[in-house]
Amino acid sequence: MPEIATLESLEQIMVRQRAVRTFTDQPADDALVERLIDAATRAPSAKNVQLLRFIVVRDRALKQQISRLFEQSSEVVPGGPTPWEEVPVLIFVVSDDPFGASPTGALALAGSVYPGIQNLLLAAQAAGLGSVLTTSRGKLKEPEIKKMLNLPDDFQIHAVLPIGYPAVKLGKNKRKPVGEVAFRDRFGEAW
Ligand SMILES: Cc1cc2nc3c(=O)[nH]c(=O)nc-3n(C[C@H](O)[C@H](O)[C@H](O)COP(=O)(O)O)c2cc1C
Repeated sequence: MPEIATLESLEQIMVRQRAVRTFTDQPADDALVERLIDAATRAPSAKNVQLLRFIVVRDRALKQQISRLFEQSSEVVPGGPTPWEEVPVLIFVVSDDPFGASPTGALALAGSVYPGIQNLLLAAQAAGLGSVLTTSRGKLKEPEIKKMLNLPDDFQIHAVLPIGYPAVKLGKNKRKPVGEVAFRDRFGEAW
C-alpha cells in the first residue's frame, strides 16, 4: 500500500537523524537550503502565527566572528567538532514573540518554534545533509550576536543549525523502546 511505503520512508529518515557536528567542506547549494526552509515553514504553529524567520549565514568573516563567540561542543566525536567557521551554512532560527511573557505564552512560543526546526532537520537528513539543533542559549542570547545578525530588538534567537554533509557516518539513533514509553489506557499499564 502506498501509505505504508510513505511511512516506511519517513521512519527510515527519522531513525537515521542524528546530531551531526562534523562536516565535510562540500557546499550545500541555496536551492537545497531553500527546500529545507520550506520544510520548516510547513510545520504547525499556535494560532498559525508562522513566526519563524531564518538567517542563512555563508559569509566566512561573519562565521568567524560567530565562531569566536561559541564554545566548541564538549562532546567527544570522531575527528572532533568542525570549527563553526568551516561549516558550509549556519541557519539561525529567530522570531519575535507574539504570545507574551506568561507561562502559557512561553509554551505557545516554544511549541511554535520546535516543530519547524524538526521539519528542517528531517528534510536535511532526507537530503543527505546533517545538522544539530544547537541552543547554547547563553551564547545565543548575547547582544553581540544579535548585532552581528542585524536582528531587530524584539527578535530572539532560538537556535543555530549548522548545515553540511556529515564527515562521519553515525548510524541509527538509539532511543527508548516504545514498550518503555507507551501505556495502554492508564499510566503504568503495559503497552
Ligand atoms: C532542545 C535541544 C537543544 C539542544 N542543544 C544542543 C546544543 O546546544 N549543542 C549541541 O551540540 N547539541 C544540542 N542538542 C542536540 C542533542 O544533544 C542531541 O539531539 C541528542 O543528544 C541526541 O543525539 P543523537 O540524535 O545523535 O542520538 C540539542 C537538542 C535539543 C532537542
